[in-house]
Amino acid sequence: MQEEMTLTRHIMLEQSMHPEARGAFSALINQIALAAKIINSRVNMSGLAQMLGFAGTKNIHGESQQKLDVYADATFFDVLDHTGLIAGVLSEESVDIKQVPDKYPRGNYVIAYDPLDGSSNIDVNVSIGSIFGIFRRVSTGAAAIDADFMQTGRNLVGSGYVIYGSSTMMVYTTGHGVHGFTLDPTIGEFILSHENITIPSKCSILSINDSNKSNWYPWTHKYVEDILGRNTEKERFVVSRWIGSLVADLHRNLIKGGIFLYPADKRQPSGRLRLLYEAQPFAFIAEQAGGSSSNGYQNILDIEPDELHQRVPLIIGNKAEVEMAEEYVRKHSES
Ligand code: F6P
Repeated sequence: MQEEMTLTRHIMLEQSMHPEARGAFSALINQIALAAKIINSRVNMSGLAQMLGFAGTKNIHGESQQKLDVYADATFFDVLDHTGLIAGVLSEESVDIKQVPDKYPRGNYVIAYDPLDGSSNIDVNVSIGSIFGIFRRVSTGAAAIDADFMQTGRNLVGSGYVIYGSSTMMVYTTGHGVHGFTLDPTIGEFILSHENITIPSKCSILSINDSNKSNWYPWTHKYVEDILGRNTEKERFVVSRWIGSLVADLHRNLIKGGIFLYPADKRQPSGRLRLLYEAQPFAFIAEQAGGSSSNGYQNILDIEPDELHQRVPLIIGNKAEVEMAEEYVRKHSES
């Protein structure tokens, strides 16, 4: 019988490349995988388990929370808080850093996560996901502090996402390529299904929400017109695709080749997506998969954060295409 490469085994192999490692990081990835399995089972059953609809609360961004948002957020924290692996977490759903309760030991890592991304798609059975980025903490006191999270993406020691789709996958990188694991629900294990994911060199997908068109800056109009202008009467080279779940849109583009833009516009001059738990984790993945990311001016991984929940314009995908978009920003700037 051919032995399957489980996520746990894969992580152990990666750990063996770092003789100094004591297993804390591997244990952390395993705990995140556990959170993913628990959330997955709830997502699968949501129509039956009274888990659809709003929770009646708002998150810090003023967005109405879905019951599954609240559930996923609590699950992530519950699987991590007692492990001695982390000092604290930053969640899309909470204003402040969540500290490890005093009764538990603290560890050297901090995690920023979006426990359930794409919430507007929950009730209609469209793919949603979880996103995480892991840093080594920089502070030495008991409590985790803002500076532990406000690091550039270059300091990420690992990042990844889970997609709850037609199958459930966990994709992660620790800086040694990007690897995807599909959950085998019959045994409850993530099995390596996509080793060393690299973005195809051909950019055949454009992902942008064009209902924001009336607020776009000139460069965005020009870029979109030109990329779609590559299509001819005979052949469609670039197709537009927008799911509205960051995880699903980026996962598809990673596998098929494409560019995703949520640019700054007149209504959202700082962009819409969050730097620490949306853009940075995916920027690390994109770079490890041979792609790139930008806010239009600089690589997402080089941005020095100045707020925990800071928004950022995001352009991400095929490297050559991201560079091309940056050129449009330079040439057709809004001023
Ligand atoms: O940040 C949450 C999110 O739902 C992302 O998953 C997605 O890419 C984006 O917002 C969709 O935004 P809009 O509703 O403006 O298209």
